[in-house]
Amino acid sequence: MPVIKANIIKNSKIVKEPAYIKELYGFIYKNKGVSHFLDDDRIQAILTFGAKKTLIADLLEEIGTNSSVLQIGCTFGSQMQKTADKIGRYGSYVVSDVLPVQIDRCREQLIDKKIDFEISDARKPYSAKYDSVICFMLLHELPETSREKVVNNALDAVKEGGRAIFIDYNMPSRWNILRFFIKPFNRLYFPFVENLWYKQIRNYARKESHFAWYKKTYRAKMFQKVVAVRKVSDEKKPETKPSFY
Ligand SMILES: C[S@@+](CC[C@H](N)C(=O)[O-])C[C@H]1O[C@@H](n2cnc3c(N)ncnc32)[C@H](O)[C@@H]1O
Repeated sequence: MPVIKANIIKNSKIVKEPAYIKELYGFIYKNKGVSHFLDDDRIQAILTFGAKKTLIADLLEEIGTNSSVLQIGCTFGSQMQKTADKIGRYGSYVVSDVLPVQIDRCREQLIDKKIDFEISDARKPYSAKYDSVICFMLLHELPETSREKVVNNALDAVKEGGRAIFIDYNMPSRWNILRFFIKPFNRLYFPFVENLWYKQIRNYARKESHFAWYKKTYRAKMFQKVVAVRKVSDEKKPETKPSFY
């Protein structure tokens, strides 16, 4: 009978809590009660103006069954559960997070899913390569230098022909009146979101030309999905057969 690995925690490095978590988001991610409250799909639907379901469905379109997937950062709601189901028993799914408390929360909750959890800081490079790398609603929380490191480490972890999928906030369209409420709220509580309104995710990439880039927006442009597909290098391209005629 095959042995099924599940919920293994890999942690070979010393991982320090980033200052932005300590200063800004600790009350969310280090508080079990708050995390538990936010983990409800109905709360997530309210907080994302009903977009979360669509964002997850569109994420799953990018993920192959039986493929290898790295996710950077735990999430609230059913995103990780649905991703594990899509990947299936014969693929591999690694979820990495810098906070042990978040890893514990997800591990307890997803004990029956085939997920390997890893405590690591995404600002440091990953050693393995994956068919897909997911960054779901993480970039907006990061200061610029950390964001640049995380985008590039995510891209570096993608195999040839594989993809990185970034789902996050985007600059709302001009006629989206919510932007007038969102802007002051962000400035108070999520000070790094606004930069993501003005700078395209692809512009953080050091090797931008090694990827083909696709972008889709949702809910009057409030959210974005950016997919970077790593091009196959010329030496490895299969030779074209001479024409029969
Ligand atoms: C994916 S993000 C956002 C979750 C979001 N609110 C949601 O569910 O839609 C939050 C997670 O990213 C993790 N995180 C933040 N910075 C990180 C880093 N540098 N490396 C790895 N994980 C990180 C946090 O600890 C947290 O668990």
